[in-house]
Amino acid sequence: MKILVTGGLGYIGSHTTAELQSEGFEVVIIDNLSNSSVKVLDGIEAITGKRPIFEKLDLRIKSDVSDFFKRHNDIKGIIHFAAYKAVGESVNEPLMYYENNINSLVYLLQEMKELDQKNFIFSSSCTVYGQADELPITEDAPVKPAESPYGNTKQIGEQIIKDTCYVNTDFNSIALRYFNPIGAHPSAHLGELPIGVPQNLVPYITQTAIGMREQLSVFGDDYPTPDGTCIRDYIHVVDLAKAHVVALNRLLDNKNSTNFEVFNLGTGKGSSVLEAIQSFEKVSKTKLNYKIVGRREGDITAAFADTTKANQILGWQTESSLDDAMDSAWRWEQKIRT
Ligand code: NAD
Ligand code: WQD
Repeated sequence: MKILVTGGLGYIGSHTTAELQSEGFEVVIIDNLSNSSVKVLDGIEAITGKRPIFEKLDLRIKSDVSDFFKRHNDIKGIIHFAAYKAVGESVNEPLMYYENNINSLVYLLQEMKELDQKNFIFSSSCTVYGQADELPITEDAPVKPAESPYGNTKQIGEQIIKDTCYVNTDFNSIALRYFNPIGAHPSAHLGELPIGVPQNLVPYITQTAIGMREQLSVFGDDYPTPDGTCIRDYIHVVDLAKAHVVALNRLLDNKNSTNFEVFNLGTGKGSSVLEAIQSFEKVSKTKLNYKIVGRREGDITAAFADTTKANQILGWQTESSLDDAMDSAWRWEQKIRT
């Protein structure tokens, strides 16, 4: 069965492609390589023994998207990862973010009207909750005004899909709200490849440990948390990838209860920045050079998922610990720098 994975050469898309192929799906990837490399195909092939079909294509070009679906009229489901994702960059380049993240989504949904299967999975984010009033965060928590254009694109994206499903009752969609994906494939054939200076914690930690960065700045230790540093829900990227296969099967089997569903994907456990560093130091047996500095603008104090809905309804749960994720991230960093 043929599945389209947009952004399939990116961090989460590549791990999901590997899981899909391992479960017997045939994957077609669309990616414009704006934040990835064709070499990722080698990693997927090394893990699964199969090279996915790859089409270098930019989803912002509507006619190219239309032509793609004429060539591949047997697609049974779409997992849509392709988007720009850097929160800070989106503040400086809002139109670039709206153009890519919104237009790409709309063009795909328009093409889907022609398909005989209308199964669609959307990469959303815990960013839609902002600083939630209650922890852990359930899917019913209110969506807060977005702190960034990037965050807006996820809120608007969900709304676009919801509105589309409302009038097109044959559409079937699931929005997955990821918490903080980290780590790499245990084989070290796939992992995160940040371009430039990483903005996220874990690649910054591993690049510091390998000597590419001098020091990790810990953004604030005066938050109202047990050790003063921010708390997040760090989920192993392979656990996250597996959730996409489960969600896809739910749509393919028509098991969904409404034609637009939302699920949190996290571990349910919050870890502070210092706990993340300790975990890294333990598994890597290295001492990390870090310094406490001032808060980073826009950071929320704490976020972690209530995973009850995904556990009970999807029948999915995480298998890997924070230590497992850190260990895989470290082995990946060592592999790509040698
Ligand atoms: P990524 O940048 O590694 O992957 C995205 C891929 O999409 C890249 O390979 C990029 O080249 C491709 N792409 C971007 N615009 C495109 C376009 N117009 N046409 C074709 N390809 C295009 O990002 P990721 O971390 O794998 O994130 C995947 C999705 O998950 C994104 O939608 C992101 O917003 C969302 N998400 C990510 C995180 C995270 O922390 N990584 C958290 C929550 C949600
Ligand atoms: C984690 C913690 C930082 C870097 C971002 C997006 C969010 C979602 C996930 C896409 C925070 C601290 C970080 C550093 C640090 N992405 N930190 N020093 O901010 O929770 O979420 O990725 O949807 O939308 O905003 O992740 O990895 O940047 O930060 O102390 O050099 O690590 O302050 O507490 P964040 P992050």
